[in-house]
Amino acid sequence: LNYGVTFTPIAKVTDRAAPAFDAVIVPNGYVAEVIFSAGDPVVAGSTGYKGAFQTSAETERQSGGQHDGMHFYAIPNVDPQKGGLLAINHEALDTAILFAGSYNAATATAEQKKIALSNVGVSVIEVQRADDGKWSVKQNSTYNKRYTGNTVYQVGGPAKSVVGNTVVGTLNNCSSGHTPWGTYLTCEESTDNYLDPTQPEVGYGWVVEIDPLGTLVQPTKRTAMGRFDHENTAYMTNSANRVAFYMGDDGTPGCIYKFIPSKAFDPANRAANANLLDEGTLYVARFNGDGSGNWVELTQGKNGLVVGATDPGNFTQVAVGAVAPSTVVNFNTQADVLVNTKSAARVAGGTLMDRPEWITVGQDGTVLCTLTNNGSRKRVDAANPRVDNAHGHIVRWKEAGNSPLATTFTWDLLLQAGDPSIAATNLKGNIVGNTFSSPDGIRIDPQGRLWVQTDSGTGANITDTFGNNSMYYIDQKTGESKRFLAGPTGCEITGIAYTPDLTTFFINIQHPTGKWPSANLPARSSTVVVRRTDGKPVGA
Ligand code: FEO
Ligand code: CA
Ligand code: CA
Ligand code: CA
Repeated sequence: LNYGVTFTPIAKVTDRAAPAFDAVIVPNGYVAEVIFSAGDPVVAGSTGYKGAFQTSAETERQSGGQHDGMHFYAIPNVDPQKGGLLAINHEALDTAILFAGSYNAATATAEQKKIALSNVGVSVIEVQRADDGKWSVKQNSTYNKRYTGNTVYQVGGPAKSVVGNTVVGTLNNCSSGHTPWGTYLTCEESTDNYLDPTQPEVGYGWVVEIDPLGTLVQPTKRTAMGRFDHENTAYMTNSANRVAFYMGDDGTPGCIYKFIPSKAFDPANRAANANLLDEGTLYVARFNGDGSGNWVELTQGKNGLVVGATDPGNFTQVAVGAVAPSTVVNFNTQADVLVNTKSAARVAGGTLMDRPEWITVGQDGTVLCTLTNNGSRKRVDAANPRVDNAHGHIVRWKEAGNSPLATTFTWDLLLQAGDPSIAATNLKGNIVGNTFSSPDGIRIDPQGRLWVQTDSGTGANITDTFGNNSMYYIDQKTGESKRFLAGPTGCEITGIAYTPDLTTFFINIQHPTGKWPSANLPARSSTVVVRRTDGKPVGA
């Protein structure tokens, strides 16, 4: 494990600094270069957005908006340090490049709906490094593809009986994960199709498996992994090739889950893993006050998941002493459990966390989850110890026996975000070094360095204290935080991917509001390459 970094932390960047910083700021010795913005060409033959509004036939073949989760894949016969594929989530619309004014799903024409739905989903692009170190999208590569809100997806797993064989569209593609067999898991962070309310509600809120190489599986909604406000997935394997996928529900509040496929994956035969995610066991995490934890099985008939179950609701949002509203829920089948996973988790006693965002698994089996904030929490517990938690925290756990199959774990809090300059004791936090609010993206890279990206509000009070949303290195032993990258005005920092040798990082800048990345067009969400001018691994 490598807990060290060599860069000199950058200063916080404030919106109100003069002149406004509409740039990505990185430490001395590093460069940040935009390679892929909303509206850029994807599918071979497509032309990019040039400033004029377009038809759905055009936008369907271009980059979507609101770049979010992302992963880098090697491709056959290409040195992965010099090229590969990026699979990139598009969480929502970059509306300004699509329509004059706002998009209203209730009054939109069929063509306007198609345009809106084309701007979400996933882009797969081939990227390549030139001899001078600069990266670009390989135009017209046959790997370049879009999966959008207009695409038809297969449905797999036990809830297929309720959802149907196919669903039109994926959307709210927040963060993502990958599998040991090289597929991409794009996570739907909304359980309804807010862009097209005519679509049946149970179609959304799933993990969707896509093969970036386009050879293994049709894009498929994996219902066995549950339906909630999915943030990302991160996996842990064992020597017998069993695997667990960890998942956060970014609900206010939401639970932390893991899904264990029933069978081992086959590292030698990719095709054998094609439908591995359709059969397995879903668990919800219970964080006990003594630092122990349990994975509680969410299987119909167990742990209270029966007909006439009492769902206690989001009781942590109700003041101590007041009565929280509960409801009666009927779990007749496993499909009922999977379609109503949030409710099943509460019935089974899962801990209601302060908005679980990304999860990451380190080389030593340490698992970390960002709990971004929960400004309306009224009842605390050991794992969520602050009322009105405006700045969030990071929880860390180790599975019993370091096994992905464990049903118990031990946990602690890595840190509580905030800043010592804040008077309110529940908002100060305990960060050592550069402070931040609202951790969201988190990743332990393959050399063991921990990176955290923020998505805090951008009001003056937040920005003056913490600066623009940024990316930080955090020492896992000392907790010391060092600001590595700061984004342009109004954005959040998300998406982290890298070449295998870590000489190139890919980072996403979502919803900038100034003039970035080009002065003459509306601000656009974009993918940025971050690399060192001396060619060494980022952070090393
Ligand atoms: Fe789409 Fe929870 O961030
Ligand atoms: Ca997020
Ligand atoms: Ca967020
Ligand atoms: Ca976002």
